[in-house]
Amino acid sequence: MRMTVIGTGYLGATHAVAMAELGHEVLGVDVDRAKIDTLSAGRVPFHEPGLPELLRTHVASGAVRFTTSYEEAGAFGDVHFVGVGTPQKRTGHAADMTYVDAAVEQIARAADHDCVIAGKSTVPVGSAARLQEAARAASRPGVTVDLAWNPEFLREGHAVEDTLRPDRMVLGVEHDAAARPTAGGRRAEAALREAYAQQLAADTPFIVTDYETAELVKVAANSFLATKISFINALSEITEVVGGDIRTLADAIGLDERIGRKFLNAGVGFGGGCLPKDIRALRARASELGLDQSLRFLAEVDDINLRRREHTVQLAVAECGGSVHGAQIAVLGAAFKPDSDDVRDSPALDIAARLHSMGADVRLYDPQANANAAQRYPRLDYVESLDAAVAGAQVTLLLTEWREFRDMDPRRVAGLVATPTMIDGRNVLDPAVWQGAGWRYLALGRHTV
Ligand code: UDX
Repeated sequence: MRMTVIGTGYLGATHAVAMAELGHEVLGVDVDRAKIDTLSAGRVPFHEPGLPELLRTHVASGAVRFTTSYEEAGAFGDVHFVGVGTPQKRTGHAADMTYVDAAVEQIARAADHDCVIAGKSTVPVGSAARLQEAARAASRPGVTVDLAWNPEFLREGHAVEDTLRPDRMVLGVEHDAAARPTAGGRRAEAALREAYAQQLAADTPFIVTDYETAELVKVAANSFLATKISFINALSEITEVVGGDIRTLADAIGLDERIGRKFLNAGVGFGGGCLPKDIRALRARASELGLDQSLRFLAEVDDINLRRREHTVQLAVAECGGSVHGAQIAVLGAAFKPDSDDVRDSPALDIAARLHSMGADVRLYDPQANANAAQRYPRLDYVESLDAAVAGAQVTLLLTEWREFRDMDPRRVAGLVATPTMIDGRNVLDPAVWQGAGWRYLALGRHTV
């Protein structure tokens, strides 16, 4: 099948390569010439395990190509996936739809034959119905453009496997007033079934529904995950005062299979390009709909999450005797999670920046994200190794749980720091082992010192 993927950022680049891996002919489209040149040369402009190898293979075979031309895309594709960004608006919490609107309109205008547009971006509920109208209005006479919504659930660091072997696929198609799929909706479903034939043959659950449900599935899933994390982090606030161990608590409630242990890791909280933005955008959309109270709890989820950052800063302040001014502090991690170089809304980088703004001499090391972090906060002292970060440190904070940090030898590292004080912001080190090696070990949600 011939398809295009519009937007070659994180989601789009991965999707384009994955579709080529599934045997399709793929054209990636982006307005950013530099990105197109990088991808055309077989290079991935961000860190994602496994993606560079697949990109090189499929660029070499010609299965995936990249262009800045909508004209070329409109002549080429039978299905056009749209994976451009929907960032938080500068003013307020709502999602900025400028890029999605422009992409849908431009590809609808450029299409010279009947085609399907499949939106993958995370959008406010109600967008797909509006975009189907816009696509119809923009299309050329005699050309039919059907629009479907096909949210993407990939996780950074697992993007390739999540795209090739998703645990479920969701497709929203146009319905009529009687809640039945329209002819266009049925055409869109048939095209997407062909595009995903391999996954469907592997029995991946495929939920075909209306636009609104499909749009909501994505933000509902991310809001639920964020809520789970903030739930355990709220309980951390309790155990920090009364005593108790948040990890054991998470294990014990997680064994109830209705709850499950995943996403109950207490620590500095969630960040990244999705969870924080999605809970805010969903709440903003509910307010626009006059349903502010329905999702008011998401404001609390956000607040709990941000309080963990401040609490971690205060732990460091207390360890430095009431002020971090002039203190040398090692920060391990800048990415919002391991196996990623993404620092968007990263708790690690936020905490490092706050400590720096309070006068600390922060030495930060991240195995992959130093460059992106330096772009955002140029004034921190970025170093190229774990040893350089901890050398002479009064306090060490582990804020992103990279394998390199989890595997640290506490005796060796104790020989490098000025004071062996560890704040484990991700609850990943073994307190007994670290204390046994002479460390003062503090973690979020448990009394360990
Ligand atoms: C998320 C969703 O998981 C994915 O399905 C969606 O498509 C995009 O948003 P991602 O942002 O890549 O994916 O990261 P995820 O693995 O979900 O982690 C989000 C944040 O939560 C990270 O900062 C992580 O450190 C934090 N987290 C996760 C916790 O603090 N505790 C946990 O138990 C789990």
